[in-house]
Amino acid sequence: MTSLAGRTAVITGSGRGIGSAIAVELARMGANVTVNYFRNRQPAEETAAAVEAAGGRALVVKAHVGRRDQIENLVAQAAAAFGSVDIFVANAASGVPRPLLEQDQREWDWTVDINARSLFYGVKAAAPLMKAGGWGRVIGITSMGSRRTLPNYGVIGVSKAAIETLIRYLAVELAPYNIRCNAVSPGIVLTDAVQHFPEWEWMVESARARTPTGSFVTAAQVASVVGFLCTEGASGLVGQTLIVDNGYEIMP
Ligand SMILES: NC(=O)c1ccc[n+]([C@@H]2O[C@H](COP(=O)([O-])OP(=O)(O)OC[C@H]3O[C@@H](n4cnc5c(N)ncnc54)[C@H](OP(=O)(O)O)[C@@H]3O)[C@@H](O)[C@H]2O)c1
Repeated sequence: MTSLAGRTAVITGSGRGIGSAIAVELARMGANVTVNYFRNRQPAEETAAAVEAAGGRALVVKAHVGRRDQIENLVAQAAAAFGSVDIFVANAASGVPRPLLEQDQREWDWTVDINARSLFYGVKAAAPLMKAGGWGRVIGITSMGSRRTLPNYGVIGVSKAAIETLIRYLAVELAPYNIRCNAVSPGIVLTDAVQHFPEWEWMVESARARTPTGSFVTAAQVASVVGFLCTEGASGLVGQTLIVDNGYEIMP
């Protein structure tokens, strides 16, 4: 396995859920990890403790990643603590589950800024550090709502499509610098996020019935694909979106 010893990862929204699992996985591979939270400090502290138990050094930073100044500060704090930033994972997400035509500008801006614009400004801040180090990995966490229509998911789906498109353009611009950019698209993972959707129990049960393995992917399974993208073995993957969903999307 590629060691990430000496590498520094910034993972947005990594106090809870999938981001927390990614933090622990990258620490297990040897990386130092900056754990970012917005509202919930306690789970972020617990993730930091798990990072340290896995062998990494941890820094906890509060930042609202929908704000340019705060995401720039997040990257700067990671670089100040660990000397550089080599891996940037845009994982944080928010949104207002509601039909598309019932959303207003405030909700559009909130969702797109946190989910997608944070990738743009995060990479703008981190790319010079990655270029200086001669190595980098950028990973965006997307969802199938970028390609399929899901109830009450319109603006979030738009933000996820933006992530996948940003990743392709970043991948081309950063490829000459040995910086690889890819996206990971999980199927349903039973985190807190799922329960924010109206009728989520029905949604979850119908999705489970359609999943050929009969169970949902776990945050740890998603994290291990993110870890793989950070290995040299994945260096041929440029600008791709990897679907990790236990086969849900290939079903009729
Ligand atoms: N769960 C699924 O079924 C599923 C499926 C496909 C894709 N995904 C994607 O996977 C990623 C993680 O989802 P999850 O299920 O783990 O979500 P989650 O459990 O709801 O956690 C969301 C995380 O994002 C953080 N966050 C929210 N707004 C933020 C902001 N403005 N600035 C910084 N951090 C912010 C939260 O921090 P606080 O705790 O501080 O609020 C939290 O750590 C998201 O991109 C999501 O779209 C999830």
